[in-house]
Amino acid sequence: MTQTVFVAMSSGTLRIVQILLLCACGAFAASDVDWWESATLYQIYPRSFMDSDGDGVGDLNGITSRLPFLKEIGVTATWLSPIYESPMADMGYDIINFTKIEPLFGTMEDFDAMVAKAHELGLKIILDFVPNHSSDECEWFQKSIRREDGYDDFYIWDDGKIDPQTGERVPPSNWNSEFNGPAWTWNEQRQQYYFHWFLSKQPDFNLRSPMVHQHLIEIMKFWLERGVDAFRIDAVPHFFEKRFDNGTYPDEPPSGMTNDTNSNRYYDHIYTKDQPENPTILYEWREFLDEYQRQHGGDTRAMVAEAYASVNILSDYINNGTHVGTQLPMNFNFVFLRNTASARMVQLLADNWMNVMWTKHKVANWVVGNHDNSRPATRIGEQRADMMTIIAHAMPGTSVTYYGDEIGMTDYDAECTWASCDFRDPERTPMQWDSTTNAGFSKGNSTWLPVNSNYKTLNVQRQRGIARSTLNIYKAMTALKKTIAFKSFKEEGGFSYEALSEQVFQIIRTAPNIEEYRVLANFGGQMEYLDGLTNKTMEYVVLNSYSPHRYGDKVDLSKRIYLMPYEAVVLRWVA
Ligand code: GLC
Ligand code: MG
Repeated sequence: MTQTVFVAMSSGTLRIVQILLLCACGAFAASDVDWWESATLYQIYPRSFMDSDGDGVGDLNGITSRLPFLKEIGVTATWLSPIYESPMADMGYDIINFTKIEPLFGTMEDFDAMVAKAHELGLKIILDFVPNHSSDECEWFQKSIRREDGYDDFYIWDDGKIDPQTGERVPPSNWNSEFNGPAWTWNEQRQQYYFHWFLSKQPDFNLRSPMVHQHLIEIMKFWLERGVDAFRIDAVPHFFEKRFDNGTYPDEPPSGMTNDTNSNRYYDHIYTKDQPENPTILYEWREFLDEYQRQHGGDTRAMVAEAYASVNILSDYINNGTHVGTQLPMNFNFVFLRNTASARMVQLLADNWMNVMWTKHKVANWVVGNHDNSRPATRIGEQRADMMTIIAHAMPGTSVTYYGDEIGMTDYDAECTWASCDFRDPERTPMQWDSTTNAGFSKGNSTWLPVNSNYKTLNVQRQRGIARSTLNIYKAMTALKKTIAFKSFKEEGGFSYEALSEQVFQIIRTAPNIEEYRVLANFGGQMEYLDGLTNKTMEYVVLNSYSPHRYGDKVDLSKRIYLMPYEAVVLRWVA
């Protein structure tokens, strides 16, 4: 039917009619895409984003002042690493009070003002939620030490064992913590060991205690009532540890990966990671969040989950057939890319996710960097940073960008002279806004981490004025995410991706008969030739600095075309 109608029409009219028809038939589900399914997610590390009061540490008012920047670059939702009261042993991931703003970051009024401003700009605010552990300075831990009513088993306590040889007391199991060294620490006052997967200043909650569940739900409720849109759930693989019915904890077998018995990697974490109970808490929270939405209206209150785990495990986080949990377990596959990255490797990593997560749940997200890993410009190479921005945004689903990666910030390995050095400091240096003192991050005399010495040439202000800067490529890609073709990813034939050769990666995004985009990216240092990709003539709409072409140039893809070393482009075809 449609064929005959269209023959007599001009192509412009044709396009409008097609859109109308598609909408009318319900073939177009672009509007069915929920906000978290195709978001441009941006991670803010509050200590390092913007300092408003000159103490050298970023804060909430600083973030608020920069929200228009997020809007400018096309971000739709931002997640903040922890902003709660903390002694900062793990830079805020060690929380004293889960419903109090850390004074370094500001006040509850500042927080409310930030949320209000974000919402005014149409940005979602996602808070980091750390349900696996607290600070040892948390009142709950202190109560637990004193075995106060209800708090006795709020954390994981154990007497340990008596070594038959020496007669000495030893920890209940051989478990090592993520940051190396024993995961059990003796508490003098309570005369027992407590378990901590992370630092000894981060005791793990006993998630088998209903009282803990109650407290955690109350924390979520507290922030929802202040307008928070979603949560990023920290450390999900570590919620539960194996515990036998007789109350003992089994030793883990050596992994064979290192001889250092103190190292976390010394053991194969069959009892401290990915226990079958882990997703059950996500299911509980999902029920709570859905119910909250039913009662209060508004958009989906989503959960993003942090889990370095296999896709089969992550799949159960979303839906195990009987229960639904988190909407968005983070996909860290691209975080494993190094400067050996190739198109084939990207395809393998993408397939690993898509074959399970897309096939089963139709969800995808692409994290390229975060506060725990070397920055992409350093890890994957500066010549491939823009290419990765293009790919992460052109793949279907949600893109996740760590602050500063939108301008290609690099790791800064300054000699550590400050009080508490962390192996992850290089990727946590202050945001580089402009070429003024402290890169425009702070008016103070010094900053909590040194500003990267490259800030005079690598900063937001400068990149605004450069046509093919990392920032402008990022902006172009976030804009493309809003097109019909990019929004049609849940439609049959809405996207495809493929390594065309060892080094050339291709992504196609299609709204059939309306428009099509094609990404071509050369990961290698050699020129690459491509023959007869399609019979379409397409237009260059995004180009990285390795491309010899110009915006608006046309290319006939039925002929042989070439890609320069590290060239990455987006081409467009319009019906
Ligand atoms: C998560 C955070 C990391 C933190 C850890 C402990 O992995 O991303 O920064 O150290 O949890 O809370
Ligand atoms: Mg400050």
